[in-house]
Amino acid sequence: MLYARCQDMQVFLLLLSLLTGSLGPGRGASPLACPSSCKCSGDAIISCKRVGLRSLPKEIAASTISLNLSHNFLRLLTGDAFSNLTYLNSLWLDHNNLTFLYPGAFKSLCNLRVLYLSRNPRLTYLHANTFKGLRNLISLDLSHCNLFEIHPFVFTHLPSLEALNLTANNMRYVPEAFRSLTRLTRLSLERNHIEAIGRDSFKDLGALKELNLRKNRIWTIQRDAFFQLGRLGVLNLGHNRLSDLPNQLFSGLTRLRTMHLEANQLTEIRCPFSSLHSLRKLYLNNNRIFSIAGSAFSPLGELDFLHLSRNNLSRLPSHLLVGLPKLRYIFLSQNPWECDCAMLRLATWLSSYQGVIEGLQCASLMDRNMSLLDLFDQDTLSSCPPPSGPIREEDCEGSYQNRASGFFATFEKMLCILLTWWCSAAFSVVMTRCHCN
Ligand SMILES: *[C@@H]1O[C@H](CO)[C@@H](O)[C@H](O)[C@H]1NC(C)=O
Ligand SMILES: *[C@@H]1O[C@H](CO)[C@@H](O)[C@H](O)[C@H]1NC(C)=O
Ligand SMILES: *[C@@H]1O[C@H](CO)[C@@H](O)[C@H](O)[C@H]1NC(C)=O
Ligand SMILES: *[C@@H]1O[C@H](CO)[C@@H](O)[C@H](O)[C@H]1NC(C)=O
Ligand SMILES: *[C@@H]1O[C@H](CO)[C@@H](O)[C@H](O)[C@H]1NC(C)=O
Ligand SMILES: *[C@@H]1O[C@H](CO)[C@@H](O)[C@H](O)[C@H]1NC(C)=O
Repeated sequence: MLYARCQDMQVFLLLLSLLTGSLGPGRGASPLACPSSCKCSGDAIISCKRVGLRSLPKEIAASTISLNLSHNFLRLLTGDAFSNLTYLNSLWLDHNNLTFLYPGAFKSLCNLRVLYLSRNPRLTYLHANTFKGLRNLISLDLSHCNLFEIHPFVFTHLPSLEALNLTANNMRYVPEAFRSLTRLTRLSLERNHIEAIGRDSFKDLGALKELNLRKNRIWTIQRDAFFQLGRLGVLNLGHNRLSDLPNQLFSGLTRLRTMHLEANQLTEIRCPFSSLHSLRKLYLNNNRIFSIAGSAFSPLGELDFLHLSRNNLSRLPSHLLVGLPKLRYIFLSQNPWECDCAMLRLATWLSSYQGVIEGLQCASLMDRNMSLLDLFDQDTLSSCPPPSGPIREEDCEGSYQNRASGFFATFEKMLCILLTWWCSAAFSVVMTRCHCN
């Protein structure tokens, strides 16, 4: 009904402007003075920035397309705050003192496309009908408020929303409210206090291209939490509290290009990257990683940039970087590298690598100030026995294949457990190495 009224209003104004021979909507029809202390360009753009407003100016022309009310002292927006502004396209309400947005405060703004509400530090809650009527809103900025609760239905009124910015709020969990945002391409929840990501947290956001979860307190992510995000290009999980990346954690992210996992509490990288066939940039710096599985990176055929600085790595599996033809940047500084014979294979590979490599400074006193590659160049490693025998490194093949055949994996596992039991029962030996992962 509201929508219909909006349409009528537009037709009416269009006719009016045609009749009066003016170009803009309503121009010349009802010449309203520019609100006192504001600046106007024509009757379409009104700027009331930093003019000490404590309430809304009354005389805003219905033809206004852009209204800037940022940096004032507005406290409340009532239900009829913006009535009749059906042409309004952009509205700035950032840097105010808004404490409550009455349900329906924006209900006439059926053509609004961008709404800035950032830096209203007293805004703590969003009612279910706060955004009623904003059916054409594309971008909503709610950053730097103090939101800790969002009604689950609040965004159902925003069917066109593509960008939602909730950076620097006070949220402790991922709100359920994202369910309806099927057109959303960018979502930022940076700098909140979120601790966990559930299986369903983002399940309806199939259009999402960028998800920013940086600087939260995330320590656990349920399996398949990102499974529906087949279009995601950037995932930022940097500066959280992740200590473990289960295999298949990132399954479904087949178009992911950039992954931020820096500044977490990771110690081991096993096989979490199986579906990331499009990944170009991987940030694993500033963790406590001391171990990486030999084929952890093998699915990453497109990888171009690898950041492993500031970890606790003393060795790398010799084949870790083999099979990454696009790799051009490798950052390895501030790790306690052991420049010994175990690194010979890697050094050999690196000596023919064409891209940029930074930091393979040896940790031992004797070689301090030298890098592994210096040693290699100086033939210091020439006394090493040539590498021989099979590469005994933890392998991901099993786990990378399991995904394809979940049922058979489970079946195999049961079989393995059964066999283990049978073996140990039959031969009364303790099976020390049976992998039923
Ligand atoms: C309105 O104010 C904001 C914040 O000061 C500014 O970033 C924006 O460009 C302004 N918009 C217009 C149309 O003047
Ligand atoms: C902001 O609003 C609060 C009440 O909600 C009031 O106490 C405070 O003085 C206001 N601040 C400014 C700068 O207007
Ligand atoms: C807004 O429209 C209503 C009718 O829908 C009218 O009564 C009212 O005077 C208008 N207000 C302004 C400020 O133009
Ligand atoms: C979200 O808001 C923050 C802070 O205002 C800003 O730095 C960031 O660029 C915004 N993000 C997006 C995607 O608009
Ligand atoms: C670094 O890794 C070693 C094992 O290789 C471990 O004993 C040590 O505690 C780790 N140091 C830090 C700071 O995590
Ligand atoms: C160690 O490196 C520093 C700076 O890279 C250099 O100034 C210094 O001379 C080096 N020391 C030795 C013993 O090579």
